Amino acid sequence: MFYEIEKGNSNLKVNPFKSCNVPRAISWISTKSVDGKDNLAPYSQFQNLSFDPPYVMVAINQTPEGKRKDTTINIEETGEFVYNMVSTDLGEKMNITANGVPYGTDEFELANLEKAPSTLVKPMRVAASPVQMECVYVQTIRLPGNGAGTVDILIGKVVGIHIKDEFITVDGKIDIPKIRPLARLGYLDYTTVDTSFTMDLYDGRSAYAQGMSGTPETPFK
Ligand SMILES: Cc1cc2nc3c(=O)[nH]c(=O)nc-3n(C[C@H](O)[C@H](O)[C@H](O)COP(=O)(O)O)c2cc1C
Repeated sequence: MFYEIEKGNSNLKVNPFKSCNVPRAISWISTKSVDGKDNLAPYSQFQNLSFDPPYVMVAINQTPEGKRKDTTINIEETGEFVYNMVSTDLGEKMNITANGVPYGTDEFELANLEKAPSTLVKPMRVAASPVQMECVYVQTIRLPGNGAGTVDILIGKVVGIHIKDEFITVDGKIDIPKIRPLARLGYLDYTTVDTSFTMDLYDGRSAYAQGMSGTPETPFK
């Protein structure tokens, strides 16, 4: 089948777009307001942009009335945020923090989540999350939306990474199947990443290959 977005003529009962690029890991973004209130919300339109330096981005819709979401306000006003990985066992709590509650409401408290202080930035981390990245804000790209609001792409630079020791293998890798990250499949559907396999690169000796695999010659790249 084929359909044109502008004509909306897919003949499907539900919009397939969000299922066309999956699975999308859910990032839990924690921020602090200028007056010190904690905020936490899930975002699946999140991605690495590069690894050297490590830039990340999150795409946050404005409301139809053109208002920025709390996460956008806090990041733009304070210049800091934290990415918290969502493991499947944290899914229900993640869902609670997606509620559109008034600005200044602490979603850590709403979902009964313990906070952990960060090392280099002010926003708190989700203590139960297996991996967190402390980030400093770089810039926003505002794309035209369908209505009053824009789509705000916020870019941050990762300045520090926390990994729970219990999820580091003897080979020094993050044990993803053990963490069981939660990911979106579009609609209201989710999946759990609980298996992995390795595929060697065609040219395993190039600098590119070392960059892909993070070998000792090019650590963390
Ligand atoms: C799994 C999941 C993924 C989401 N991803 C996004 C997203 O990528 N962009 C977005 O604007 N909203 C997304 N949302 C909705 C926001 O989490 C929701 O609007 C939330 O209330 C925003 O909170 P805030 O105002 O505290 O930032 C997502 C919700 C869920 C449950």
